Amino acid sequence: MTHTESHSQFHDFQYRGLELYCEKVRVRDIVEKCGTPVYIYSHRTFVEHIHKIKQAFRSVKPLICYSMKANSNLAILKTLVNQGAGLDIVSGGELFRARKAGCPAERVVYAGVGKTEEEVEEALRYGILLFNVESEAELATIQKIAGRLKKKALVSLRVNPGVDPHTHDHIATGKAESKFGMELEIARKLFLKKADFPNLSLCGIHVHIGSQIVIGEPFVEAFRKVLDFVTSLEKMKIKIKYLNLGGGLGVIYSTENPQTAAQFAQKILPLFKGKKYRIIFEPGRFVSANAGILAGKVLYIKKTRLKNFAIMDTGMSELIRPTLYEAHHEVWPLLKNEKASKWMYDVVGPICESGDFLAKDRHIQELHAGDYVAFMTAGAYGFVMSSNYNSRPLACEVMVKGSQFSVIRKRQKIQDLIEGESIPEFV
Ligand SMILES: Cc1ncc(COP(=O)(O)O)c(C=O)c1O
Repeated sequence: MTHTESHSQFHDFQYRGLELYCEKVRVRDIVEKCGTPVYIYSHRTFVEHIHKIKQAFRSVKPLICYSMKANSNLAILKTLVNQGAGLDIVSGGELFRARKAGCPAERVVYAGVGKTEEEVEEALRYGILLFNVESEAELATIQKIAGRLKKKALVSLRVNPGVDPHTHDHIATGKAESKFGMELEIARKLFLKKADFPNLSLCGIHVHIGSQIVIGEPFVEAFRKVLDFVTSLEKMKIKIKYLNLGGGLGVIYSTENPQTAAQFAQKILPLFKGKKYRIIFEPGRFVSANAGILAGKVLYIKKTRLKNFAIMDTGMSELIRPTLYEAHHEVWPLLKNEKASKWMYDVVGPICESGDFLAKDRHIQELHAGDYVAFMTAGAYGFVMSSNYNSRPLACEVMVKGSQFSVIRKRQKIQDLIEGESIPEFV
C-alpha cells in the first residue's frame, strides 16, 4: 500500500527517485508515448477504494453502486463491476455505459431530477433495481410507462433532509433550497398515495446531501432524520426495504483531513444496529478522485510585473474544477529537480477565458517550456466534465495496472470536432 508525501489517503502515484510513477509505470513513459493532455488512472487505486468501503461496512453487506458521473470510462466501470460494485446512473447515456460495462441490471440504481420518458422506458426494459424519484410528477411518469409495459418498478423517494453538509455551495444538495429530493412531508403524502401508482412499489428512501464532505456529523444528522422518518412511516404500515444513503465522502485535494471509510462506518453503523434494511451507498469521488491525474506540458513561461505564468497545453477544457468550484489540485512535476529554486506560478491553460487556470499562486520548482506536470486527484469530475471549447479535441485516457498501461480512450482527432455538423444549402 502506498502513501505519498502529502496524501494520507491511499493512492498509487508516487515518486521513485525523481520520477513520478503510477503503480510500476513511469508517468513520463506514458506522456511520451500518448502525448498530452492525458488522464492517467491507477487500476489498483480504484479497486482498493471499493474494497475499503466494502470492508468498513462488511457487517451490513451494502450494495455499493459507484456513482459513474464522477468518471464513466468503460474500463473503469468494468474494473469496478468486476469487484462486485453496482452503478448509480443519472441518464440514458449512463445506462448505455452501464450495460456496455456488463453491469447486471439488479445492481443499477437511477437518480436525477429530469429523467425523460425514453430514459425511463429504457431503464424499465433493462430491469434496473431502483428508480430514485425526485418529484410527484416523475412518479406519475414512471407509473404511466410501467403501466404501459406491464412492469412493476421498484422506487425509492429521494428526500431532502435540510442538512448543511459544510461543503462548496455548488456541490451541496441536501439543503432546503436545493432542487434535489423532496421534503419529508411531501414524501410521506406520496407513500400514503401508493394506491395511485399500481405499477410502482414504493419501498425505499434515498438521501444524498452533497459531495466532498470531510466530517461525519452532517451524514449522521441526515441519516438520523431519515431513520426517524422511516420509523414514522412504519407506524403507518408503510414498509421500507431499501435505504440508499448516497455518496459524498470527501477526499484529500490539499490539506483536508477527511474521515476514512472505517471512521465513517464507525459513526454510521451504530445508527443501523438491529435494523434490517438493504443499505445502498453511491460513492463517486471517494472511489475515483485520487485514482487519476491529468498530465500536461508547459508550452511557455510568461513573466509579467506581477505574475509568473506557466502556460500549459491543458486547461479548463480538460479540468474545469478549479474555475467552477475554486477546487485545488496539487501540481507535481513528472521529473523533480531538487536543485532548482522554487518559484510562484499561476498555472494556466491556452483557452481564451480569464477563468482558464488550473492552479494559482503555487510554489513549484522552476519550470521551463517542455516540462511535464501532473494535476493530482483529478480522477473524479475531471474528464467527464471536459468540453470541446475553443475547438480542442478531448484528451486521451490511459489506465495503468502494475507494469502495464493501455489507452482506454483515444485522443479525439481534429476531424472528430466537426462530426455531425453540416452547412445547409441556404448558407
Ligand atoms: C444522487 C447522487 N449520488 C451520488 C453522488 C456521488 O457523490 P460523490 O462523488 O460525492 O460521492 C452524487 C453526486 O453528485 C449524487 O448526486
